[in-house]
Amino acid sequence: MKFFVDTADTAEIREIANLGLADGVTTNPSLIAKSGRPYAEVLREICDIVDGPISAEVVATEAPAMLEEGEKLAKIHRNIVVKCPLTLEGLKATRALSNRGIRVNVTLIFSPLQALAAAKCGASFLSPFVGRLDDIGHEGMLPIDQIVRIMDNYDYPAKVLVASIRSPLHLLRAAEAGADIATLPPDVIKQILRHPLTDAGLEKFLSDWRQTKQKI
Ligand code: E4P
Repeated sequence: MKFFVDTADTAEIREIANLGLADGVTTNPSLIAKSGRPYAEVLREICDIVDGPISAEVVATEAPAMLEEGEKLAKIHRNIVVKCPLTLEGLKATRALSNRGIRVNVTLIFSPLQALAAAKCGASFLSPFVGRLDDIGHEGMLPIDQIVRIMDNYDYPAKVLVASIRSPLHLLRAAEAGADIATLPPDVIKQILRHPLTDAGLEKFLSDWRQTKQKI
């Protein structure tokens, strides 16, 4: 399973990339706004840090303008993947961009049939959102199992990129479902490394070691 980092904070991306845990990065307009930096500048810096798919989202809502923005974003670096929303216009842009050889990550997917439509329109990545479904009382993980099965049934090349992950449990369930990729906020990546028994075990080892008065 690949881990993408879900942030536009380049310091966080660098730290995770140095561990070898960043196979790609996803950004969205909210994350860019949070960074407070110019979009193209952040994307260039991210592409220098991580050699993998870097998602950059269009903000136009009509297909021709999305296409124009997508082509502009794709020119920034060969690793840029253009993110289009799952709307009728977004799917038109997805088809047009993919026909031009530009990879598209279709975002804001909330149902298995939206994912199937995106795959048929040439998406390279499908981003079903888990946390935002949980937020409104739906079972966010349910569509993930269904989407993975549908992609397997018909051998679509689109990769299932689980998004809107808010906790290690989401990641565990996504991995169990066989999703290709999870895009993870840096905090979730740090949480999965921590365990209270690891901390307690290390403390005991070190206190026992101190009693030996030895040095390595
Ligand atoms: C990534 O591609 C998505 O934009 C992101 O995971 C959304 O996460 P959120 O629902 O926590 O904002």
